[in-house]
Amino acid sequence: MEARGQFKTDFESRRVGITGSPGTGKMTVSSALSNISNLEFISINEFAIKNHFAKRVGLEYVIDTRRLRGKIETRNRVVSGHLLPYVVPNKDLDLVIVLRCSPRTLRKRYEARKYPERKIVENVEAEMIGVIAAACVQAYDPKKISEFDTTRTKPETIAQRSLDLIKGKEAPFFGSIDWLSTSTPSSFTSALQGKYNTFNIPKRITRFASPRARKSKY
Ligand SMILES: Nc1ncnc2c1ncn2[C@@H]1O[C@H](COP(=O)(O)OP(=O)(O)OP(=O)(O)O)[C@@H](O)[C@H]1O
Ligand SMILES: [Mg+2]
Repeated sequence: MEARGQFKTDFESRRVGITGSPGTGKMTVSSALSNISNLEFISINEFAIKNHFAKRVGLEYVIDTRRLRGKIETRNRVVSGHLLPYVVPNKDLDLVIVLRCSPRTLRKRYEARKYPERKIVENVEAEMIGVIAAACVQAYDPKKISEFDTTRTKPETIAQRSLDLIKGKEAPFFGSIDWLSTSTPSSFTSALQGKYNTFNIPKRITRFASPRARKSKY
């Protein structure tokens, strides 16, 4: 059967990118996909550290995305990392998978990892507004991009559906996940916890007439 979409039938030439906010399940889904296909898994962060594209600053690594761009071999590989849209150009990929996770569940995953509160809020906010998804839309041909919600779907199911996309059995789909329009305000508040609970008290409260006083005036 002829493969659908733009993918070549030659399985050896498949070049897949997996990205998403930290904790959306890139590592888990990528290794599951690598296990059920002949694609080799490669982590962008590990590649950057091993090949001196990363500088250690305190407890974190800062990756030189400008220098790293275009340097990762993608052929017959699953290249995975949140920096994908910044370091792997459109011409080097056949399929881009963006993993998403609801802000509330993402907070729980970060709490389990014992992330500091500042880092939790920063990453939850980035997922809420879809920073990585937007970067993918800018970087890649929209026909190559597919999006999966990992909030309730098992990583193995997502890996299997990704394989179906690679084989052309399923068509890529993108743009249905929007936490800003589908979440309730209370779920946002709990995902961000106390961040917006404090505000400045205005110096002077403007006086205004009571309804009764207004009535008597006219
Ligand atoms: N589809 C999924 N359903 C439920 N839980 C998942 C799913 N995918 C991953 N997880 C869980 O979420 C956590 C984060 O997964 P993982 O380490 O793969 O994320 P990541 O995107 O690689 O994160 P980072 O960018 O920080 O490396 C893990 O505890 C994993 O078990
Ligand atoms: Mg990871």
